[in-house]
Amino acid sequence: MSAPALQLTGLTKRYDDGLLALDAFDLTVPAGAFFGLLGPNGAGKTTLISAVCNLIRVTAGDVRIFGHEHTTREARRLIGLAEQDVNLDRFLDVEETLLFHGGYYGMSRADARRRAREMMDVFDLRAKAGVRAPQLSGGMRRRLLLARALMHEPRLVILDEPTAGVDFELRLELWQYIRRLHGAGTTILLTTHYLEEAEELCEDIALIRGGRLIARDSADNLRAEFAASSLAEVYVKAMAA
Ligand SMILES: Nc1ncnc2c1ncn2[C@@H]1O[C@H](COP(=O)(O)OP(=O)(O)OP(=O)(O)O)[C@@H](O)[C@H]1O
Ligand SMILES: [Mg+2]
Repeated sequence: MSAPALQLTGLTKRYDDGLLALDAFDLTVPAGAFFGLLGPNGAGKTTLISAVCNLIRVTAGDVRIFGHEHTTREARRLIGLAEQDVNLDRFLDVEETLLFHGGYYGMSRADARRRAREMMDVFDLRAKAGVRAPQLSGGMRRRLLLARALMHEPRLVILDEPTAGVDFELRLELWQYIRRLHGAGTTILLTTHYLEEAEELCEDIALIRGGRLIARDSADNLRAEFAASSLAEVYVKAMAA
């Protein structure tokens, strides 16, 4: 058996102001899963992701990425993160954004060039290679964020609301691309407030609220368990409980 893509044990995060954002959270995401993390604003989704990616100090608990402790280089190399906030460097153009990222992850120049071109083609950014982030449209910035997250070919791709504010067409394109990635064996962890999106994409779902796990199962089992005909209905019932 291969190690799970993600294993959280007793993960707790109390921010400096005293707010308990994650309360002894246990979660296992098997390798190869298409996993949806759902919950209302403030539920702790981004906190969980930040803890996984070692962007915040955790208060207690253990986080493993394919068996590697999350603070290690190996773990970092295995994860690709597209954050909820579009945090692009305003002084870099599209191609530089990708090349710098490749360098940061230890890719050779030649590999980074090749991969950057591939990513620009996939995300339809070739014509914007020399354009800086502030001169891109909002949707293009989202694409670049995704392209950057995928540059180093991570085995676990974490997408924090990748389709927020994205038009219908781009959303369908992103779905298609993420599906293809998953089909090629990449583990996906997605957060979204569009329940129909989670329903369409995710095989495996966790509902969280107030830093705690409320429910965790396949979409089919959740619908059965909550006697619901849609994931939206599951969500409403689970959050009301
Ligand atoms: N740096 C911080 N300092 C103090 N509290 C924080 C900090 N970042 C987040 N929080 C708090 O932690 C809780 C969880 O926030 P988090 O961003 O993880 O939620 P979320 O599930 O991602 O919500 P959303 O759907 O709005 O993105 C919230 O109450 C939030 O105010
Ligand atoms: Mg968030």
